[in-house]
This record gives sequence, structure tokens and C-alpha cells, in this order.
Amino acid sequence: MKITSKQLRDLWLNFYISKGHTNIGAVSLIGDGETGVMFNVAGMQSLLPYLLGKPYKNNLTRLTNIQGCMRTVDIDEVGDESHFTFFEMMGNWSLGDYFKKEKTAWTFELLTKVFGLDSNKICCTVFAGDKNAARDDETANYLLQLGIKKENIFFKGKADNWWELEGTTNTPCGPDNEWFYPLTDQPNHDGKCDIDCKCGRFVEIGNDVYMQYKKLGDGKYEPLKNKNVDTGFGFERMLMFLNGEKDGYKTDLFADVIAYMEQALNIKYGENSEQTKSMRIIADHIRTSVMLIGDENGILPSNVGAGYILRRILRRAIRHAKKINLPTQNLLDLAKIYIQKVYNQAYPNLVEKQDYIISSIAAEIEKFNKTLELGNKEFEKVILGIERKNQFMRSNPNFVLDNTISGKAAFRLYDTFGFPIELTTEMATERGYKVDLNGFNECFKQHQELARTTNAGVFKGGLADNSQATTCLHTACHLLLAGLRKMFGTGIEQKGSNITSERLRFDFNFERKLTDEEVKQLEDFVNNAIKSAIAVERLEMPLKQAKAQGAYGIHKAADDEIVSVYKIGDVDFQICGGPHAKNTSELKNFKITKQEAVSAGVRRIKAIINF
Ligand code: ALA
Repeated sequence: MKITSKQLRDLWLNFYISKGHTNIGAVSLIGDGETGVMFNVAGMQSLLPYLLGKPYKNNLTRLTNIQGCMRTVDIDEVGDESHFTFFEMMGNWSLGDYFKKEKTAWTFELLTKVFGLDSNKICCTVFAGDKNAARDDETANYLLQLGIKKENIFFKGKADNWWELEGTTNTPCGPDNEWFYPLTDQPNHDGKCDIDCKCGRFVEIGNDVYMQYKKLGDGKYEPLKNKNVDTGFGFERMLMFLNGEKDGYKTDLFADVIAYMEQALNIKYGENSEQTKSMRIIADHIRTSVMLIGDENGILPSNVGAGYILRRILRRAIRHAKKINLPTQNLLDLAKIYIQKVYNQAYPNLVEKQDYIISSIAAEIEKFNKTLELGNKEFEKVILGIERKNQFMRSNPNFVLDNTISGKAAFRLYDTFGFPIELTTEMATERGYKVDLNGFNECFKQHQELARTTNAGVFKGGLADNSQATTCLHTACHLLLAGLRKMFGTGIEQKGSNITSERLRFDFNFERKLTDEEVKQLEDFVNNAIKSAIAVERLEMPLKQAKAQGAYGIHKAADDEIVSVYKIGDVDFQICGGPHAKNTSELKNFKITKQEAVSAGVRRIKAIINF
């Protein structure tokens, strides 16, 4: 069966819509800092409360969507034929509605009727049970009744047939039914070549999770009142499988991007393994960068949190472009192919934000290009130094070769030349060297200590940790409020704030959405204050005096109590516990990434700095 990515999207959604489901669309790829996750890792993540029993909007109980996900654990694997950082999950859910009988029947129908698979070849695994949760005979029986052969149904333990979000408690979970299909009819090996065979003859094409428990911790589970279904079929994987491809980069999601590189370089994908690996890394990382920047909670490359992951993958793509002699400007064309041709229908927001996405990638290319050549030279110098030492050691009868790049050298590459540590490690590995990561972390910590701008021990005002990033974001909140008061009057007050190491969130009393011009004006105000490199002073004085001098802010102190006040030149003067940057220039730059309503009369702004 040949099927395009666009057809697959429609087939999935229409099939479940025909079974009474509503397409709820996808949520942001990026965590909002409140759930504790940096990226959305599974389709069910945004549905956690509903899987635990909270009614969904309009009391819907049958949902479907195709959700963008991002998993960073496999970044280093990208470059082979089947790993991606961004991927999509085709999902559908029953929130206390239908259960195992209907779900097994629908997956079976979809696979055999819509996708034309042979029911005699379908294999399934189901949960074998353990002391905490029962064996899933019920699912196995329904599968048998549907016509799946008894010898093709396997019972497996928790490691294989149980789904939960690792490292969490009070989250829904349960046994799952995994669906497998052989890529070829002939076993690749004599004797055992079944679903467990490492040769990859059998592909796992998806799974139905029966979320019927709540995870309590200590390996204990409590049955849920609502029995739910959580189905996840990997979009890329299914597309590969249905087209008989083992290489995801040969699907239509990547075909144009790969063809562009082949043409630009006059090479053939698949001919040279090193080039092919670089082409895959570029294709994957540019796609992910487009998705992360163009997301509704879009981020930009920076040195912290999710922004750092983005910087890391973009810079890795840039380095691999150089490696295969692809002009780095061509990466922008690749980004445009994804925006205009591949994801234009499924992600119209990318088309809307195309200029912003392209200019953001271009800015990062420019930034990294400035130091990349020098950094490469520096890297070579470091290698030469190690080799010289080894040469010398060889003349010593007891020599021990040391192929380790010191933490200090790796830190210099990071700090002065903008090489993410993972990039240095990758370059080192390619050449047969190691990096002293402990040493690097030590240098990093020392540097942070030095750069730390705070003198305060106690953190207040919603700060999540005491890194320099959050300190600077706190100062950005003051500048933002100062800007709002300048534009809309001193009636504007802070109604709440929350800072993670990646972004600030700031709530204030206001009736309506800010216009684009107002957003720009506000950004300019803050950026001007940053450019003016204004010292941030901490003063202490009785509350009465602070107020008399025009300080404002939330305060519950008595009149004569000594309060701390932060003064940013003549831009801002606020009663506040701190900590703050020592100088506004530390913020580097400021951008509003989102605005929304919180409640009647309260608006929320999210913003980032130092990107
Ligand atoms: N939550 C399940 C998965 O991610 C469906 O595979």
C-alpha cells in the first residue's frame, strides 16, 4: 500500500470521527512550566486530568487527534534510519466511555479494513499480570474472537505491556495491548524469528493502553472509577510501515528536504554512510527547530532549558551542514520546505509565522557562524595538544595514552565559541576522543558562581531556582511592569508572576489584548532599558520612606519596617525582596512570546530574555 502523510492523517482522524470521536486538535509542543515537563512527550499528556475523571469540555468522552511530541532522550541516536526528535502520535481516547471490546474491534477494523493488513499475520501482546495488577485475559479473549490467531497472541510482563509516565505519581496508567506485523513473510532466521527477534522483521505499529489504574508510588496501583482507553500509534512509524519502508527519511515527510540536499550537493542519499547520517541529522533537526520556534508557545535558542535544547539541535544541524559542504543559508530553504510543502495543511500556524521562524533560524546561524570556524580551529588545537602529549608519552616505557579533552578546554569551546557540550562530545567521539564531562561541569559551576548576580539567600516572588537566568527574568518583570505603567498609567499592578529558568510569566490588571504595536512598544521599552546598561541598586529603608520616594509594589509591612527596594535608574523603583541582576545589560534582550487572558480584567504575558 502506498500512502502519503496527508492521506494517513485523514484516514486516522476520519476513522475515529466515524466512531463518534471529536478531533480535539493538538496542544502546544512545549510544556508551560507548570506541569514540570519541558516538552509534550505523549498524546495523553495534556489529557491527564480527564483520564483521572475530570469532565472534558462539553462532556466529550470520545476524543481523537494527531499530537506533536518531542523526546530528547534519543537525540544522539538521530542519524540512523528511524530516530527523530520531533514526531507525531496518532491518538484516540475513551474517557470512561467504551472499553476493551470496542477498542480491540476498532483497531482490528482499522488495520484490516482501512489499511488492508492480513488478520492471519497480526500479532498482539497483552499484559501477563503481576502481584499488583491482573492478567489481561479480557483483551486476549476479544482478540481471539476477532480472529487473531491464538499462536499470535503473547502474554508479557510489565516491562513490555504496561504504560505509565515514568517518574510520576497520581497519574493514570494500565496494561496495554501492542500490535505487531511482519515486514516480510519469510522469517529472516531459521527457528525463532518471532516478535521478539532483534532482526526487526516484526514492527510494533501501535498500542492501546487501558488506563484503568492510578499510580500511587511504591509500585502500588488503585483502580480508577472511570475506565479509559489511551491509544497511540506513531505517525512516522506507521507511515514507514504502510509504505514498506524501513527508513523514515524516505517517506514523503522528508523526501523534498532530502532531494534538495542531494541536488545542492550533487550526492545521493544512502550512498555514503557519513553523508547520509549528516543529511538525516540536518533533516530531523531543522524540522524540530521549525516546530519549536513556530509553536503556539514558541521558543528561541538560548542558553537555558528548552531554549538550550533548541540551540543544541540547531547548532548540530549547522555543524553537519558544514561537514557535508551544504551552505548554511540552505538550511533556511529546508525550513521553508517543511513550512510550505510538508506541514502547511496540518500546521497552518507555521505558514503564518514563516518570516519569524526563518529569521530566528537565520539569526542563530549567523551567531554560530561567527564563532564556528574559530571554534573548529580551537578544537583542532586541543586535539593537537593531546596528540603531542601522547607522542611524548610513547617514549616513556610505562606510557598510558590519554585521549581525553579536558573539562577546561571543553568549557572554553562552550563559553567562548558557543559549542554546546554535546557538540564537542560528538566531535570528539567522531575522532576517537573523550571529553572530561565532570571537569566541564565543574568549570560550568565555577563560572556560574562568578556570574551570579545575587546577594540574597532567600528567593521570593515566584522564583523557581536561583540560577542567573531566573534572577535576570525577575529583573525583566520589573522592566515589563515599568513599561506597562508608562504606557497605560500607574493603575497597572502586578497580579501574579511565575518564573522558570526559561521564561517569565507576568499577570497584570488590564481589560483587553495588547495590539501588535503595543507589544512592540513594550518590547522596545524593555530592550532600550537593557541596551542602556542601567545599574540595578538595592536599597533598604522604612516602608514609609520608600513610599514617600515613590516606590510601589505589593507590601504587607508596617510603616516603619525596613523594606528592600530595587531601583533601576529612573526606569523603575519597586519594593521587592529580590534577587535581581546587577545591571540590566545582563538580560541581553527581551521578547514577548505570548499574551492571554487569565480571568476577567487580568491579562498574562509570557516573555523570554537572552535568546
Ligand atoms: N500513551 C501511549 C503511548 O504514548 C498510548 O504510547
